[in-house]
Amino acid sequence: MSDFVNPYTKFAYAYDVMMENVDYVRWAEYVDDLFALYNYHPKRVLNIACGTGSIDILLAQKGYEMFGIDLAFEMLALAKKKAERRGVKLNLWQQDMRELTVSKPFDAILCLYDSINYMTTEKDLKTVFIRASEALVPKGMFIFDVTTERNIIKHFHMKTFAESNKDFSYIWKNLYVPKDKLCKTILTFFLKEGDCYKKYDEYHVQKIFSVDQVKDLLNEAGFKLLSSFDAFTFNKCGRSSDRINFTAVKKT
Ligand SMILES: C[S@@+](CC[C@H](N)C(=O)[O-])C[C@H]1O[C@@H](n2cnc3c(N)ncnc32)[C@H](O)[C@@H]1O
Repeated sequence: MSDFVNPYTKFAYAYDVMMENVDYVRWAEYVDDLFALYNYHPKRVLNIACGTGSIDILLAQKGYEMFGIDLAFEMLALAKKKAERRGVKLNLWQQDMRELTVSKPFDAILCLYDSINYMTTEKDLKTVFIRASEALVPKGMFIFDVTTERNIIKHFHMKTFAESNKDFSYIWKNLYVPKDKLCKTILTFFLKEGDCYKKYDEYHVQKIFSVDQVKDLLNEAGFKLLSSFDAFTFNKCGRSSDRINFTAVKKT
């Protein structure tokens, strides 16, 4: 059995190429539209699990003062470089979302692209919700999404993806365990280092939560759920949703 490196420490180098088809412009517009839908005008916005900062940069360009945390230093380093190249200011620091602490509360908090699914127990999810609530101003808004069981079963369970690029290749194997509601992924990267390709394995585990579970935990953490939309729409989520976008407001 090979030793695993921490999730996203090597994925970071391939992330933006592998996510080339993700429409981050649409995603940033969706966040902007959700704020508008609720007639909310945040200034300071924290993106937890901001990754390589793609959404943060776009939101900063729309005028939001953007802050970001991520567990993986390597992802943050790329976000920093990208922001500098685009002449955008991002305030980034490395932190586990379960340990989120802030010196000044934010008007809004985001957690996007299935990042919440990295919480593998209800206890961890509730901790994140409590931390987010504590890091928000009264009536502050929390926007996050979750991937659904349907998405995992249809697009990932027992599927292997592989691709060869100039500087890296990868093999991405997925298995969903319905009884635990866990999707287990092994990502093997071959990264070009000098004249050689070096092999690294990452092990990722993501958990599926139901809408009712999320709603109850939000409530216990001091939030009121405003909507659970089929992602990128203003339609209520349903059995055909692959991703659900939750918008909640901190109770006063
Ligand atoms: C699928 S990526 C999404 C990144 C980014 N939000 C985007 O839209 O591209 C998931 C991110 O969650 C981060 N992450 C996973 N567990 C975390 C934790 N406990 N605390 C903070 N970040 C975490 C990973 O490092 C990774 O950057």
